[in-house]
Amino acid sequence: MSGKVPDPFTLVIFGASGDLTRRKLIPAVYGLFADGLLPDGFRLVGYARTEKNQDAFLEELREGVQASARADSWDPQTWHAFAKRIRYQHGGYDADGFRILAKSLEQTHGPGNLLFDLATPPVAFAPIAEGLHDTGLVHPETPDAPWSRIIVEKPFGHDLASARELNRTLRRTFSETRTFRIDHYLGKETVQNLLVLRFANAIFEPVWNQKYVDHVQITVSETIGVEGRGGYYDQTGALRDILQNHMMHLLCLVAMEPPIALDAHAIRDEKVKLLRALRPIPQKCFAENVVRAQYAAGAVGGERVPGYRDEAGVAPGSVTETYVALKTFVDNWRWAGVPFYLRTGKRLAARITDVAIHFKPVPQVLFGADADHPLKPNQLGIRIQPNEGISLQFQTKVPGPAMEVRPYQMDFGYASAFGREPPDAYERLLLDAALGDSTLFIRADEVEAAWEFVEPLLEACEHEKDKALPTYAAGSWGPAEADQLMEADGRKWELMKRPVR
Ligand code: BG6
Repeated sequence: MSGKVPDPFTLVIFGASGDLTRRKLIPAVYGLFADGLLPDGFRLVGYARTEKNQDAFLEELREGVQASARADSWDPQTWHAFAKRIRYQHGGYDADGFRILAKSLEQTHGPGNLLFDLATPPVAFAPIAEGLHDTGLVHPETPDAPWSRIIVEKPFGHDLASARELNRTLRRTFSETRTFRIDHYLGKETVQNLLVLRFANAIFEPVWNQKYVDHVQITVSETIGVEGRGGYYDQTGALRDILQNHMMHLLCLVAMEPPIALDAHAIRDEKVKLLRALRPIPQKCFAENVVRAQYAAGAVGGERVPGYRDEAGVAPGSVTETYVALKTFVDNWRWAGVPFYLRTGKRLAARITDVAIHFKPVPQVLFGADADHPLKPNQLGIRIQPNEGISLQFQTKVPGPAMEVRPYQMDFGYASAFGREPPDAYERLLLDAALGDSTLFIRADEVEAAWEFVEPLLEACEHEKDKALPTYAAGSWGPAEADQLMEADGRKWELMKRPVR
């Protein structure tokens, strides 16, 4: 993080009684406060429809902070000082509610800078943006006026049409430079490190193309199920929940061209170019390139867990995918012919987010390699989480008189190299929004370009809605069909060994 402290501002969190506020947002804001990164004039208003008194609200938030990764910075005195800045306000997302909110903000904080965070169900995004605008809480965009900014949490739209519609509302109410569409993956330190790895080193970029790269694998695997969000998840599925956003951003940063600068425009221009170069997967090619599946009952971490269809809130005959794997291509000069394999799923064997660059094999003419025992090609693994770091696999000679060659893995780990775990993604993103830096947020055309790639997939799913989905046992590595997708190309899913911390 830059270490810069923003100008005094009030953060208004809508949906303040919800899970996202307690688990992610408040621990992150507390972390910033504990690190001295918030200005003296910082205030926080938690706004929600639920009636709740101030003490009960603060108690919930305290529990959330103590249970979070930020528990290491827990200090009762700091909490006390932080809690004094927080106020709970209950009200609806309607004209009356916004009028009362505007009045109380004016009385308690004056006409200061305002950062709104929409941690509500997505149906409330547009009404809130419009309500804030109509109540005059969006300050004019003149140099000496205080600023108003809006953070929109995901999901941004349910499909291309709804994303476009929401973009139109935001343009009318806040303008693009004041809209911060969040994808918390972009706040992850290791995701940003992709840029450093690629563009601050001389040795990777020359081989980062179709001449040297055989294929790329991106895995986002989770052990958790739907975590009490069955009703929401059943309308969403893995394609919308993870692939359309988190995985598209990973893919962009892995494959995009070098930006001309490290600023919000230049980086996002390159990401959009990359998304536009993705080869669409039309319905007729869906079966060969996409696998969707659902978890059945099984055991995760030694505990029995129910199948997806038995989760609360999930329709008994649901055909919503909890797993998706697909093969795609980036149709540009750099990546022509290189397959990108993406997979994500819930209730898998381990929580791992990894990018693996599989290089082409060397000519198998030396070292006694034969067709049945070829030398293993080099692999570069980027561990996004957990145990964040980078691994490189290469061939070495086993000491001794024989010319025995064996792959060896060299590891870099954040925690051991820097003596601390990378900071939480939300801390970085909330601070950037308060500073007005939108580099790590999604631009309107970017979110639409990602939906444009996903749209034909959704159409194909709709077409197949009467077909049962393949299943995989909870705690496994996914359905056999996903392995077959790779085997058809003579490849397999591989995760590099995770070094011991
Ligand atoms: C969210 C999804 O965006 O990301 C969740 O809605 C998912 O379903 C979560 O569990 C994963 O985030 P992380 O940071 O734990 O990988």
